[in-house]
Order: sequence, then C-alpha cells, then structure tokens
Amino acid sequence: MSTGSGFGKAILFGEHFVVYGKASIASGISKKTTVTLVEGKEPGFKIIDKRPAADGYIEKYAEAQRESVELMNKAVWHLDFDANPVEVTIGGDLYCASGVGASAASCVAMARAVSEHFNLNLNDEQINLCGLEGDKAYAGTPSGIDNTCSTYGGLIFFRKNLDGGSNQMDQITLGKPLNILLVSTGVTTKTKQAVDGVRERKEKDPEYYEPIFDQAEELVILAKDALAQGNLIKVGQLMDQNHTLLQEIRVSHPKLDHLVDLTRENGALGAKMTGGGMGGYMIALFADEETQELAARVCESEGFKVIRARIG
Ligand code: MEV
Repeated sequence: MSTGSGFGKAILFGEHFVVYGKASIASGISKKTTVTLVEGKEPGFKIIDKRPAADGYIEKYAEAQRESVELMNKAVWHLDFDANPVEVTIGGDLYCASGVGASAASCVAMARAVSEHFNLNLNDEQINLCGLEGDKAYAGTPSGIDNTCSTYGGLIFFRKNLDGGSNQMDQITLGKPLNILLVSTGVTTKTKQAVDGVRERKEKDPEYYEPIFDQAEELVILAKDALAQGNLIKVGQLMDQNHTLLQEIRVSHPKLDHLVDLTRENGALGAKMTGGGMGGYMIALFADEETQELAARVCESEGFKVIRARIG
C-alpha cells in the first residue's frame, strides 16, 4: 500500500487578485487530505472518496476529480492505468468545502501516493507541479497558491509569475502566532465560476476594477510587515479591508458577510472570506485562544462547521 497527503490551506490576503500577479499571503494548515493507494482489480484509476465534506461537495466535484487525474498523468506521471490499475481511497481530517484548498490537497496527496507506488521518485517541486496541473480541473487558471501551500505547508508570501517563470514564494516568519477560525458557509461554489466571473466583469469595466486590484496589492505588502512584527491589530484591520475589496469585486456571499459580522461582534480582530468565495469558507483572526473558542462556539451554535487552527 502507498500513501500520500496534502495540507489544507487558508488564504490570509489576496485571493482572486493573485490570479493577476498581485501579492498574496497564505498558509498550509494542519488539517490534511490523505490517500491510500493499492493495486486495482479492474483496469483504470478507481477513486473511493471518503473525505468529510459539505453536503453535495463530493458529487459536485466528482467529474473535476477524474479530470484532475488525467491532467496530472498527462503532465507528469505518463502512466497507463489500464495496464497497471490502481484503487485510491481519499480521506483525512480536512473538512472539504470550497475555500480551504481541498482540491489541491487531494491532487497533491494522490500525486505523492502515485509517485510512491510506481517508484517515480517525484520531488516536492514535481509534486507541486502535479498539484497545479490537477487543480486546473477545478479552478481553470489557478494561480498556484493552493498547490504551493498544499505541498510545502508554512506561511508564505506568494506572487504568480505571469510570464510562466518561477513564482515568488517567500516564507514569512511570524512575530506572533495566529489563532484563527475557518468557518464553512456550507455553500459549495466552484472556484472556476468565481474566477471566471471576476475576469468577465474586469474585462468589461477595467476602470472600476484596476484600482481595486492596486489597493489589494498595497494591502498585502502592509500585511506582510504587520505579520512579521506581530502587530495583530493591524493584521485584523487589513483583513477587514481585504474583505471589503472582495465584496467590491462581487465574490462574497450573504452567508460569508454574516459570518464576518458575527465573528467580529464576538471578538475577532479581523475577518474576511477566504479562497474562491461565493460561499465556501470565512477566516477570522483572534488575539488569543479564549476569544477564538468563544467565537467558535457562537458559530457552531448557529450550525456552522468550524476549523480551529493556529499558524506559527
Ligand atoms: C482559490 O483558493 C484562490 C483563487 O485566488 C484562485 C487561485 O488563486 O487560483 C480564487
């Protein structure tokens, strides 16, 4: 039996804008998607998906998942699964809903297990490439931030190289650890839909969109310093501002806005949607574990799924 895993991720700053080469900050989280792979009994690449997930998530993405395997095989593995069948079981403790990098994590986990089973000896860079290729089935034109977090973990400043060269990826050393909550709206929306929507609107009305993209860039540069200095009040304020920008490009959702307000009212230093949006997850930052726990309970009392995480 071969195994593999990929980290879930949380984007702290810059989702959507990152697709256009703007700066972003994201982190791997300790929740993971794991894969076990055994020789298959029938020709092909059989997937048994046992991940904990929001209602409808697994079904909605089943086709994209099959496509992700084809894309990874075409780009990196070059294997004949009819001649060498495999059966892959996906699980782990990452609760899958849009926004926590579940698709990239499953690609990275599968790539690691395939590499082990077929002795491909893929290094992290090649695994990361698998994650990027596979994630195209879900996100269309992924920036690469999700697969990078999923492969390497840690907190990173990330900038996509729009000319196809290496992306900028700098580890950030935190001044203070971050107590965060990731709260799922329970609404599953395809990342591709959200990304395509931004592209269409931006192309139609560049005069409205360009300044928002520039503001997003400035905000991430300030956030990088605030994180390094441990200035959590400032980090929280910048998260709030980032949420406003995401509302302005119309990728938020009434449930995301509700969760942002709810966590702010219950002690968050700042809160925003995270990931593709239009549903999916919200992220909130807290000064300490006590306030984090209080807000987590409030969200849970309203029926929302919560991931408690600590970065750094
Ligand atoms: C999705 O987790 C993040 C987006 O910025 C898309 C991408 O970066 O590929 C919305």
